[in-house]
Amino acid sequence: MTANIVWFDTAVRKEDRRRKNGHGSAVLWFTGLSGSGKSTLANALDRQLAGLGLNSYVLDGDNIRHGLNRDLGFSPEDRKENIRRIGEVAKLFVDSGQFALTAFISPYREDRRQVRELLDEGEFIEIYVRCPLDECERRDPKGLYRRARLGEIPEFTGVSAPYEEPESPELVIDTAEATVEESVEEILNLLEKRELIP
Ligand code: PPS
Repeated sequence: MTANIVWFDTAVRKEDRRRKNGHGSAVLWFTGLSGSGKSTLANALDRQLAGLGLNSYVLDGDNIRHGLNRDLGFSPEDRKENIRRIGEVAKLFVDSGQFALTAFISPYREDRRQVRELLDEGEFIEIYVRCPLDECERRDPKGLYRRARLGEIPEFTGVSAPYEEPESPELVIDTAEATVEESVEEILNLLEKRELIP
């Protein structure tokens, strides 16, 4: 599909952009069940990074599915394509010297692995937002679990579609136990340790 298309190296390189921004760039890939707290954490982290004068942007499942991925549903093939496109967009953010904070269920290990492959070493930070299914169902912020149990939403993750837990994520956050503030702190510590932020 890329026949007759030649890659063009940009004049300003990723390293130049990182130097200009005064920090590294990477994808922070939040994965977990619906209602586990992916968006909450990504947004809290985004606010904290902005407060520190660092460049980041949240890519969120519900929002991206209103625009870029409005043509996709929730079959395994569509979820795969959803994650592939997000991976490519997140890579652009990394190339632009920013942190991409992605909040997608991304239930399949293989799809997440492919995004990791797309990026350079150390640029993909997988954060497993772990929360027991019954707690997610108890929270049910959008009433989707209730509707899924009634059979109104087919292929709903955790109910009638699988979620494959990460095997070796960079970080696991138990949102039924840790507060949002504690979790954000933990992520910031990791970024500091990896010298991605000052
Ligand atoms: S995926 O699996 O990564 O492609 O999903 P994602 O793009 O993150 O979209 C998940 C949000 O879509 C809503 N929704 C569903 N989720 C799971 N299964 C089904 N069938 C479904 N239908 C709609 C739901 O609000 C998810 O949002 P979050 O923020 O995860 O609760």
